[in-house]
Amino acid sequence: MTQTATQTQPWSRSLSQPATEFGPTPLKLLSGKIPTGLRGMLYRNGTGRLQRGTEAVGHWFDGDGAILQVNFTDQGASGTYRYVKTQGYLAEAEAGEYLYGNYGMRHPGPVWQHWLGLLNHTAIKNSANTSVLALSDRLLALWEAGNPHALDLETLETLGREDLGWLKDGQPFSAHPLRDPQSGEIYSIGVDSAFTLHLYRCDRDGRLLKKSAIALKDNPLVHSFVLAGPYLVFFISPVKVELLSLLLNTKAYADALQWLPERGTRVIVVDRESLTPLAENETDPWFQWHFGNGCLDPDGTIRCDLARFEDFTSTNEFLREVPTGKIQTPSYSHLWQIRLDPQTGRVISNQPVVERNCEFPVVSPADIGQPWTSTYIAMHRPGIQAGEDLFGALGRFDYATGELTEADLGENRYVTEPIYAADAEMRDRGWLLTVVYDSQADRSELWVFDAQHLSDQPVCQIALPSVVPPSFHGTWQPAI
Ligand SMILES: [Fe+2]
Repeated sequence: MTQTATQTQPWSRSLSQPATEFGPTPLKLLSGKIPTGLRGMLYRNGTGRLQRGTEAVGHWFDGDGAILQVNFTDQGASGTYRYVKTQGYLAEAEAGEYLYGNYGMRHPGPVWQHWLGLLNHTAIKNSANTSVLALSDRLLALWEAGNPHALDLETLETLGREDLGWLKDGQPFSAHPLRDPQSGEIYSIGVDSAFTLHLYRCDRDGRLLKKSAIALKDNPLVHSFVLAGPYLVFFISPVKVELLSLLLNTKAYADALQWLPERGTRVIVVDRESLTPLAENETDPWFQWHFGNGCLDPDGTIRCDLARFEDFTSTNEFLREVPTGKIQTPSYSHLWQIRLDPQTGRVISNQPVVERNCEFPVVSPADIGQPWTSTYIAMHRPGIQAGEDLFGALGRFDYATGELTEADLGENRYVTEPIYAADAEMRDRGWLLTVVYDSQADRSELWVFDAQHLSDQPVCQIALPSVVPPSFHGTWQPAI
């Protein structure tokens, strides 16, 4: 990749204009056949617009959340795409300009307005743009620094801010809750402005069963965590925030974060029933946004995997540059596997298993917290080593064989996080769904792969009616 400094990259058109809402729209099948065992809904959340009036966002994380739904029925596939109509979105749409601070944007008003915002939880706009959680009667659009927003599962109409019956105004509920596949219980977290890590155990509908809290000292960033058998595991990377700059509104949040590798990574093992910390330890420094999975192995050790960056600064800069269409800061993460002792939190081994630039590790929802074999990833196409590009391939790493199987989508095609959908008819069979942007055709498509045969051609390719910008996270909700 050599065009970074001056030219926009091929995928930049997918982000250069606010995305258009659509649906419900019947979707055209471009190739193949929709598997008869693939029935249900795919939901994805990401930034639908990265500009307002003449102003651009400061960071990819600042864009307004928009949800893509693709519904697979016996009649075919249909799609719906809607913005999450948060209070901030509606106010800014009416004003035609940005009114709030954000992760990468300082509050645009006088400092007293910023202080007022700190008091009423509007200093940083809740963009509702990161992930989704499907409950039985509503869809939650998740954003890690505040309350979720509820949407209608069918129409994607925004129903309003969601407190689940127990969240306080502004109380964070992370974008990476984990659902135990056996009990259906939901585990989530949230880091508040006092650097307290809140832990929540909820029933399958989000009602609170148990909560606890852990002091993080001055660390504000815990994006996700691990469910491993009877444990929750946290790896707290050494990132600190300059509080004074935030308070005085002299820096945006993303600019006030500091990487302090000399502190190392803090490891905390928690009992998942009582949410009580059991062990704490330290290990070498790294940064991760995402874990693939975790489990308690028969030998009594915890095993987990993650997309590991060697520092925070490069990934933060990379993500800041994406909306400009010109990435100048290379950022690399590889898939690593960690083993640790649950009694002490001591890391026993920590090694790369896929030494290719990759992110968004996911597993089958049935494997969450359980011993598992396959971790799926988004990754660079073969031969592309540069860390300045978006991903163009999917991978499946098999821990039983140590083999990586790849789906290379071809030049000028870009993937999003893969989503695993279990087949409704055949046990142990599943499909891998990814939203693809074809920069040559300037078109978004949904591709479905056989998860066990990723290197085969996709089983079907489906056209979306208009461009859907690359999104962050999603979920699969099987038809009942
Ligand atoms: Fe994430």
